[in-house]
Amino acid sequence: MNRDTPRTPPKTFHVKSFGCQMNVYDGERMTEMLGARGMTAAQDGISADMVVLNTCHIREKAVDKVYSDIGRMRREDGTRPLIAVAGCVAQAEGAEISRRASSVDIVVGPQAYHRLPDLIDKAIRGEQALDTDMPAASKFGALPGRGKQTRPTAFLTVQEGCDKFCTYCVVPYTRGAEISRPWSAVIDEAKALIDGGVREITLLGQNVNAWTGEDDKGAMQGFDGLIRALDALPGLDRIRYTTSHPNDMTDGLIAAHADVESLMPFLHLPVQSGSDRVLKAMNRSHSAQSYLRLLDRIRAVRPDIALSGDFIVGFPGESDAEFEETLSLVRQVGYAQAYSFKYSPRPGTPAADMDGQIAEAVMVDRLARLQDAINADQLAFNAAGIGKRTTILLERKGRHPGQLVGKSPWLQSVHVVAGESQIGDMIEVDIVSAGPNSLAGEIVRRKAA
Ligand code: 5AD
Ligand code: SF4
Repeated sequence: MNRDTPRTPPKTFHVKSFGCQMNVYDGERMTEMLGARGMTAAQDGISADMVVLNTCHIREKAVDKVYSDIGRMRREDGTRPLIAVAGCVAQAEGAEISRRASSVDIVVGPQAYHRLPDLIDKAIRGEQALDTDMPAASKFGALPGRGKQTRPTAFLTVQEGCDKFCTYCVVPYTRGAEISRPWSAVIDEAKALIDGGVREITLLGQNVNAWTGEDDKGAMQGFDGLIRALDALPGLDRIRYTTSHPNDMTDGLIAAHADVESLMPFLHLPVQSGSDRVLKAMNRSHSAQSYLRLLDRIRAVRPDIALSGDFIVGFPGESDAEFEETLSLVRQVGYAQAYSFKYSPRPGTPAADMDGQIAEAVMVDRLARLQDAINADQLAFNAAGIGKRTTILLERKGRHPGQLVGKSPWLQSVHVVAGESQIGDMIEVDIVSAGPNSLAGEIVRRKAA
């Protein structure tokens, strides 16, 4: 326990989330929970009585960022907020965090954050406040229900953890084994979000398409069954999901892309590499060909689907020729967008100890070449929208006065001059121009809501 730990109960707090959308979701649930306890959200960390750093462990830089953030928490008068480290770094490093950064008061893992209020009490009593349990009972049941939402779009975590054990990845160790939230818990949370003003829900999971469970009649359902049940909820206009594993793209889920109207034509389906030797070393259990065949089947039922992916360059042993295979896969697929990363050895994962670790300069060069190829495809995908009419859901204000930003069905950001339209409206627009990251549209007419 630190001698300089603030000892008065915090009244204001600030949650800062790093990493994936599941962390954004967890951050929102923590915010709601602390709000239900009478605490008030502050705009920034430095003025808050308590800061929660909701961390990501996926790559080295993400971890470094956390420690540098902790270092910046001291105020000019020498005081500092109560500091809680949550998320995957908390899970992976545990007590090591407080040893490396002595100003950290609370360490709480991603499966234990419902216990944050107790941990705050412990910290201000001067006791050790560390909880990295992965309790059998889900944390979700212990969280307050979802109330009025500030945005028309929301995340909903339906599945957590991963049993796939890709050799580079730390997630199976930080988020634990694959679990699916029960059918009724998901449906009830979706209904509460819709009642709270939400029109679009993005279902989240580390392997979201591995979701499985019993429906309200006791029948086993896959992820496609859950999507169909959500589609039937009045008031829910759009459903998205992320992130998926190619091996969990069932026939039923592919069929859902053909005939579930609210399921948006966008699919984030990471492949990681275009080389079969590298894929094998990654323990991906699919080949480049089987991935491409899968995309063909999806495109056959939903020709306009926008594809997204994740790539790792410089996996141990990756040769120039193997990297070229990744470039060639990217050119074949024509992604609407994709994320690419330099391989980062994660302690405790098999790949970290493999021979043939790749030099930084080689990774930098490969990443730049891959990103050039992806950016070119992304711009081409956006430019193909010019002159077309589409429907967007207005989500937020733009940078210019009177401007609003919405999303197309294909997850593109579209800027419009708002006129009468408001955030939360679904409107028709004509796309008039396109850049690599967004489109501009002109409003056609207000769609009947
Ligand atoms: N190094 C680099 N990228 C990684 N990813 C996961 N683990 C690592 C790692 N050790 C990437 C994968 C994954 C995405 C979320 O992060 O591409 O799909
Ligand atoms: Fe980061 Fe992965 Fe944890 Fe998300 S699940 S916070 S990306 S390590």
